Amino acid sequence: MPVDLNNAQPLAWDSATLDRDTKEMLDNLQPNILRAHVREHLSVLFIRFNDSADGRRFLREVATTHMKSARRHLEEVRDFARSGRRGTPYVGIGVSKAGYRDLGHSVEELRLFGDRVFRDGMKRRVAEVNDPAVTEWEAAYQREIHVVLLIGDAEAAPVARLRDEILGRLPESARVLGEESGQGMRNPAGDGIEHFGYVDGRSQPLFLADEVEREPRKRWNPAFPLANVLVADPFAPSRDRHFGSYFVFRKLEQNVRAFKEIERDLADSLGLEGADRDRAGAMLVGRFKDGTPVTSKAKAGGGPVANDFTFDSDDGAKCPFSGHIRKTNPRFEDIRHVLMARRGQTYGERADQPWDDAPPETRPSAEVGLLFMAFNSSLENQFEFTQRDWANNADFLNPATGHDPVIGQGDRDIKVTFPKVWGKPEVSLPQGQVAQTVTMLGGEYFFMPSLAYLRAL
Ligand code: HEM
Repeated sequence: MPVDLNNAQPLAWDSATLDRDTKEMLDNLQPNILRAHVREHLSVLFIRFNDSADGRRFLREVATTHMKSARRHLEEVRDFARSGRRGTPYVGIGVSKAGYRDLGHSVEELRLFGDRVFRDGMKRRVAEVNDPAVTEWEAAYQREIHVVLLIGDAEAAPVARLRDEILGRLPESARVLGEESGQGMRNPAGDGIEHFGYVDGRSQPLFLADEVEREPRKRWNPAFPLANVLVADPFAPSRDRHFGSYFVFRKLEQNVRAFKEIERDLADSLGLEGADRDRAGAMLVGRFKDGTPVTSKAKAGGGPVANDFTFDSDDGAKCPFSGHIRKTNPRFEDIRHVLMARRGQTYGERADQPWDDAPPETRPSAEVGLLFMAFNSSLENQFEFTQRDWANNADFLNPATGHDPVIGQGDRDIKVTFPKVWGKPEVSLPQGQVAQTVTMLGGEYFFMPSLAYLRAL
């Protein structure tokens, strides 16, 4: 039975009755797509080949020696839960449109990729999403990147070892154009956070039955069909069993100092005092620093980070329509196909504690940020739609609600208001939108092919 990507039931991957085609799908799918792979330590390598035979040989060798399948990854996670046995590092490969061409695929063949945004590449999409001009990107991203290689693990040493080993195999004809290092950050509760100090990575589309079953799901259904992230791999032997995913990579620098000043100034201008001051930042993000959704509670705190909520009973008096998580997932039933599987990681070292209340002057203003990464079945209808039609759109849902204060790009020329008291109609005087504190430094669109394709190169 061919794998049905639109099946609404989450995948019971461990079931004894799992059919052969689904097993083969999981045996040929890269890990980290259907379920996040641990990547506290992450090395991201951007490579350019200059000889197609060399490039093919390199990718085939990496795939056969170092890459595990999605099924192997899920088994490792299960075994770790049962016996504490550590899994193996994650190695992922994404190929850009230019990379496929360099590996010998013709322009006609590339049309088999249904996503025209992938076929364009990120450099040609700058105007669509209001990105900085390519000439302003970091040098490595201005070049023609063929492949992204991700190496991740819970510990630093295996990543360093594997990175050296893989680079040792790199043919003379290839070049490493750039490299990023990601490193996870956690708050005292142990939750993963990003540089502004907020819990991140909590809300995700879930595809696997064991993950879905652990979630409270009275209001928001976290289960999504595989079609949100998988498409048939056009160059693999079987279109029914061999799948891949479009992968967006963006290096997003965060001016933490400026964001903390904005939080402070907004709290001052709304007259928020004491613990209420945290609501200023929560209205920008949509969640308090500890992850509590501001649409559900006026103050932070109260147990595990919730995700079982919608904005249905909130006309913007609790969570403004511009709040980052409201912009990027308004939680309507008819927009569920837009949600991507986010797999980002923070980068940059800092001496201060991102989650505490230290004054803005002590915060970094550059060199730290998010390596934004996400899996899509359509870059056009998911990542780009989210960035362009929601985050950058000041008239999102209602006129003049403003840009996404975290990731919105483009002129912020309209004035906005904020609720002064949580849940009450009283709003602030119209004020200028908060300044942009996240800057895109470069990136690319890739396709993460099936292992069946990579092994056969
Ligand atoms: C959620 C921060 C970039 C899309 C979140 C959350 C935080 C956050 C703190 C809440 C945690 C959670 O609900 O999982 C940031 C920061 C960014 C950034 C600091 C840049 C430096 C982006 C980009 C996109 C995006 C570029 C897409 C265009 C989302 C989505 C969610 C989310 C879809 C989940 C919303 C939900 O389902 O409730 N982000 N983010 N983020 N972000 Fe971002």
